[in-house]
Order: sequence, then structure tokens, then C-alpha cells
Amino acid sequence: MKITTIILAAGKGTRMRSELPKVLHKIASRPLLQHVYDMSRQLDNNAIKIVYGHGADRVRETLKDLEADWIEQQQQLGTGHAVQQVSDQIADTDTVLILYGDVPLLKLSTVKHLIANVNSRSLALLTVDLENPVGYGRIVRNETGQVARIVEEKDASASEKLIKEGNTGILAVHGEQLKKWLSQIENNNAQGEYYLTDIIEMAVADGVIIATSQPESVDEVLGVNNRIQLSHLERVYQQEQAYQLMEQGVTMIDPARFDLRGTIEKLGIDIICDVNVVIEGKNSIGNNVKIGANTYIKNCIIKDDVEILPNCVMENSVIGQGSRIGPFARLRPETVLAENVHIGNFVEVKKSSVAAFSKINHLSYIGDTTVGSKVNIGAGTITCNYDGVNKFQTVIEDGAFIGSDTQLIAPVTIGKNATIGAGSTITRNSPENQLTLSRVKQISLPEWQRPLKKEK
Ligand code: UD1
Ligand code: CA
Repeated sequence: MKITTIILAAGKGTRMRSELPKVLHKIASRPLLQHVYDMSRQLDNNAIKIVYGHGADRVRETLKDLEADWIEQQQQLGTGHAVQQVSDQIADTDTVLILYGDVPLLKLSTVKHLIANVNSRSLALLTVDLENPVGYGRIVRNETGQVARIVEEKDASASEKLIKEGNTGILAVHGEQLKKWLSQIENNNAQGEYYLTDIIEMAVADGVIIATSQPESVDEVLGVNNRIQLSHLERVYQQEQAYQLMEQGVTMIDPARFDLRGTIEKLGIDIICDVNVVIEGKNSIGNNVKIGANTYIKNCIIKDDVEILPNCVMENSVIGQGSRIGPFARLRPETVLAENVHIGNFVEVKKSSVAAFSKINHLSYIGDTTVGSKVNIGAGTITCNYDGVNKFQTVIEDGAFIGSDTQLIAPVTIGKNATIGAGSTITRNSPENQLTLSRVKQISLPEWQRPLKKEK
């Protein structure tokens, strides 16, 4: 069976009050439309067509990598009109699935269930029972409970408005029939729009059964019309992800205070995640990793037994097994830490590698540097890697000890097991095994007196 999925995404989204087209607003860092696309991509033998209109250039530019046909709907004359734009791309034998670009959390299982209900004698319609169905088209059923038609809120009579079963807008239909009914839709209704929902009555007239099903949860079919709804669906999505992680062996101190805006491609067990952790991009996290409160992790590979203390920011970095980071540490892109490295408070590491068992525990900047193993870098050490124009490398070989408050003016190499005296400014390579220091000799002035305040 060949599927054609039509994603309707031309609408304006006035209530977002935004310059950004509605379908580009994000849940978990992914545009709403991308969520719908990613879900439908998982259907086999599926051609995706996106009907776009408002913010056309921006929508297409942002999502140009999607494998889909883009069909522009120049004027938004209704959902029926939107689907009509794709009519000539639908084969008679296709199963056509209609989705909305602003309904981001619809599940694949719900869609598969829907598609299974379609054939030339049956149209599959996703409906939902709502406490407050205001704004939704209502499902009108006959005496025997069969769906007869859908009436839009604005066209509904007082008694029809009492119907609690709402139209989600999501449906699946046989291609040949859809094309026939689309050509018959008119706009003589309260809104002067071409309603896709009118095909239901036409289907019934043609003897086609309307097979309804409902989603597992209402949240699956909620659309985003304003930023309150956007934040609601963000939380729904995040909670779902947190629950999945817990099922896979992660302890979440508070699943409501966790955000994954991306993926954890490789996930260990017995990870403990404290509150307010945000993880973005593509990551991998090993076994027994502890992630402290208020930590931001983006595109990192974190090996087994790593402990991240609170308030760390780490991006595009690799953290070796058994390493301990933070509190208040910043790992900038291209930081690679080997096993059992300690990075302490107020330490920034950038584009540097640190070999096993080395320690940089306090108040340091290490950039464009290769640090050997068992190196100890004292408090307040700065690699001066930048002359205002170019960046230079620092090499600190195995076993070196860098005294506190040292500046290493790159390019420079500190030899194996070298010791640098505290407070040094190192401009030349320092030989291995020796103590190197550059320090003004300390003097004391015995005759000196502290000035006194003048008496008045
Ligand atoms: C539609 C349904 C209604 C249903 C509701 C669920 C119709 C006539 N009504 O109403 O029964 O309960 O959705 O949310 O179908 N769009 C276009 N081009 C257009 C018009 C809309 O692409 O010309 C897109 C929108 O971007 C949106 C979707 O279609 O993604 C639904 O449009 P919207 O205006 O929200 O439909 P409703 O009037 O709310
Ligand atoms: Ca809507």
C-alpha cells in the first residue's frame, strides 16, 4: 500500500503573536512541523507533501532538508482548499493521510491504527472526546451511532454544540475517492471557507463507512495556537521523555525538572540526574554517571562513572571514565578528557585534551592545550593562547606541576615532570624535571613607614 501524507501547514497562527511562522515554533528545540514530519517518516512507502503558505520562504528555508514535496497554498481558503492543492499528485490507489503541521505530538501507533481502517468502503477519522469542545468541529452521528457528518463550531446549532466528540482533523482516505469529493467542496458556510470536513457527508452519501478511532491521550491531537498551548505540549513531551529514561534505568530526582532537547544515542544504566538538567543535541551517557543540579550538556560523550557536580556547562566534549567535573566548570567545544581527570570550580577548558589522572581544580583557563597524564595545574593558571590575531598551542607533558597563578604564554612546552614556580609568567619552553620560575625578587624596606592621616 502506498501512502501519501499531506501535512497542512499554511495557516497563519495569529494568536502566537510572532514574526516566526507558527510551524517553526519549537518543542524540544525542534520545529512543530519537523515533529509531524519525523513521525510520518516512520511510515513505510510514504510520500510526504507539505502544504505551506504563511511565512513561505522562512518555512522552506528552515526545513529545506526534509524529504518532502512542498506545495504552496497562496491564499488560505480553508482546509479543503489546502488539500485541493495536492489533488493532482494523488494516485487513485493511494491511501491519503491528512495531518496538521501544528499538532506535534501525534503518535505513530495512532496513525498506523488509523491507516489500517482505510479501504474503498471505509474512511478513517480520528476523533476525540473533549470536556470543552469549543472551537472544534463536532462529530454528528445518526440514530444508530454511525457518523453522518462534521459540523464546524461556527455552523453548529445549539444542540450540535452540545456534542462532546470533536474532530481532530486527522484522517485517512482512499485516494480516488478523496479526489472526487475534493472537487465537490463548496464554501457556502459561516466562514466562507472550503472545509475538508465536508467530505465526510459526501462519503456517507456514497455509502462509505466512517471508521472512527481515538488517540490514547488527548495531548496527541492538541494543536498549538498560542504560547500557552506551546508550553503545555513542551511539558507533555518532556515528561514522556523523562519517563522513558526512567524506564531505561535512569533515576530522575524530579522528572518535571528535566529537559532533553535532542537525543541520548547511547544510554547506560544507574545514571542519576538531579534537578534542572538540560541536555541538547546528540549525546551519549555511560553507566553510573551522576549529573548534578543545574547542568547544561550539549553534544557530549560522557563515559562510565563520571560525576558532574552542580552548575556545569559542557558542549561538544568527551569526558573520560571516572572523571569528576565541577561544580561550576565550563567545558567548551573540542575538550577531550581521558580517564579520572578532575576539573574543578571556575575552570574553563577549550579545544584541549587532558590525559588520565590530571587535575585542574580551581580558577583556570586552559585553551588550545595538550595536557599529559598526572599533571597538576594549580589555581589561577592561564594559558595565554591568543595574541589578538592568532591562536597558539601549549603543551604540558606528563607529570608536570604548574604552580598557582601562572601564565603560560603560548606557543610553549612544559617538559615532563617539570615544576613551574607559583606566580610565573612562562614565555619559553621549560625543561623536564627542573624547577622553572620567573618572579621578581621579594624585597622588604625596613625604614618604610605607612603614611599617616594629617591632623586637622
Ligand atoms: C479544523 C477542522 C475542525 C477541527 C479542527 C481541529 C475544518 C474545516 N475544520 O478547524 O473540524 O475540529 O481543525 O483543530 O477542517 N490550514 C491550511 N490552509 C488553510 C487552512 C488551514 O494549511 O487554508 C492548516 C492550518 O495551518 C492548520 C490546519 O490546516 O495546521 C487546521 O487549520 P485551522 O484553521 O486550525 O482549522 P480549524 O478551523 O481550527
Ligand atoms: Ca486549529
